Amino acid sequence: MRSEAPVVLTLTGLEAGYGRIRALHGIDLEVRAGEVVTLLGANGAGKTTTLKAISGLIRPTAGSIKFEGQELIGKKASDIARMGMVHVPEGRHVLRGLSVRENLELGGFTVADPAVRRQRLEHAFSLFPILEERQHQDGSLLSGGEQQMLAIGRALMHGPRLLLLDEPSMGLAPKLVLETFRIIKELNKTGVTILLVEQNARLALKLASFGYVLETGRIRLSGEAAALAADNSIVEAYLGA
Ligand SMILES: Nc1ncnc2c1ncn2[C@@H]1O[C@H](COP(=O)(O)OP(=O)(O)OP(=O)(O)O)[C@@H](O)[C@H]1O
Ligand SMILES: [Mg+2]
Repeated sequence: MRSEAPVVLTLTGLEAGYGRIRALHGIDLEVRAGEVVTLLGANGAGKTTTLKAISGLIRPTAGSIKFEGQELIGKKASDIARMGMVHVPEGRHVLRGLSVRENLELGGFTVADPAVRRQRLEHAFSLFPILEERQHQDGSLLSGGEQQMLAIGRALMHGPRLLLLDEPSMGLAPKLVLETFRIIKELNKTGVTILLVEQNARLALKLASFGYVLETGRIRLSGEAAALAADNSIVEAYLGA
């Protein structure tokens, strides 16, 4: 059974694109408090576009996005982050020329109280001890997996209640993929709700409780993660894994 916790994010009839290219053709999706929900689909299906629309990086052309009851369409990305929803983009975007610590501190720029910033930095260091060890090193010199941890750590500096993760396992060695998934699970246990975009469908469906499958800008399927994972024809037809 799907969680009966309150709904924190609702997409209704969401349409978005790039100039004349329409990438999303009316997406309906729901995330409830405390869930890990995964959004799956092949290359070009519209996963990143969906996350960008939610976090205010692109402006939808139709539909509605409600976060904790408030309409997000028309709000600035920085205001959305302040409301408690943070997007960790595809490709990590660690800033070259800034130390690991400065990259993390940049994530906390929206937080006025220095004591809260300090507490969140400690929390990030406790989740990712390697970041504390390397705090004075240039962030761009970290390995791919460490940069992924830095990107998640930076997002945590905002104190999100909902975290949008775009392919956190991309480009990582299998061992680091498992480590990243373990950390996502741990974060979820601390009360952070997660919308996880992944190409690694089998792993994502193990971690998530509910899943949606996107195909060329439309939701083709949705259901409990265990049910989606158990149906081999679904996994093969839509997810190629
Ligand atoms: N900046 C852009 N300008 C024009 N078209 C774009 C842009 N970004 C994405 N698209 C197009 O929008 C559609 C959806 O792309 P999107 O990046 O959302 O896919 P995705 O599911 O995240 O794919 P991937 O798994 O490869 O990351 C694709 O057809 C893509 O070519
Ligand atoms: Mg993408």
